[in-house]
Amino acid sequence: MIIGSKIYYFDSIESTNAYAKTLIGKTPEGTVIIADEQTAGKGRSDREWYSPAGGLWMSVIVKPSSFNLLAIAAGVAICEALHIHGILPGLKWPNDIMLNRKKIGGILIDIVDDHAAIGIGLNLNIRAFPDWLVNKASSVFIETKKLLDLKTVQEIVFKELDGCYMMLKNRREPDLLTKWRHYTIILGQQVAVELGGVRIRGRVIDINNDGALVIMTSDQKIERVISGECEML
Ligand code: BTN
Repeated sequence: MIIGSKIYYFDSIESTNAYAKTLIGKTPEGTVIIADEQTAGKGRSDREWYSPAGGLWMSVIVKPSSFNLLAIAAGVAICEALHIHGILPGLKWPNDIMLNRKKIGGILIDIVDDHAAIGIGLNLNIRAFPDWLVNKASSVFIETKKLLDLKTVQEIVFKELDGCYMMLKNRREPDLLTKWRHYTIILGQQVAVELGGVRIRGRVIDINNDGALVIMTSDQKIERVISGECEML
């Protein structure tokens, strides 16, 4: 197993992704940085990521042949890991982990040369969120009242992530995308996405081999969106 071949544990750290970026090139592929809490956790678009004790905050250093499907692989791995605990999350493109249509986790990919740090934030045993997040975030505990053993979840996430990452390494993208289609909550749904600074609305048709979202607009045009935010309508 590559993922977890070397592990750095911290009680507290500013950001596991920030630390991972300093290690790139000096540590083997699959190195994991994991912390009980982050004091300056980062989300996408440089947003603050609330990371108190009780969540899974980790980053993995990888050297993939393509960066396209890394977030998809991580999202699928998290869904598989939570399924093993009897929790049925879903994926919202590009990188949100959802439960009961609420965001319980996210993935942040930071690319440095030919490496990437895959940052995974999963709100597991978090009992409450500060005011600025109450309407945006939730946790496994809030949604299910289940308290999970963090160490066990960690180990299963390592194993599932290893499996999904190997699919990418071995050029088995179609298998990974089949799994994504199983977990996603946006296939067939009406969404709004930003495309070249323009907000477009349409129905999600599929995801491409390169990770782009395929949308059919109301005037029957097919649009492909490579990156951005997706809002469910
Ligand atoms: C998102 O915006 O949805 C992505 C959130 C990613 C958060 C994780 S927590 C572990 C890693 N370290 C960080 O600072 N961010 C990522």
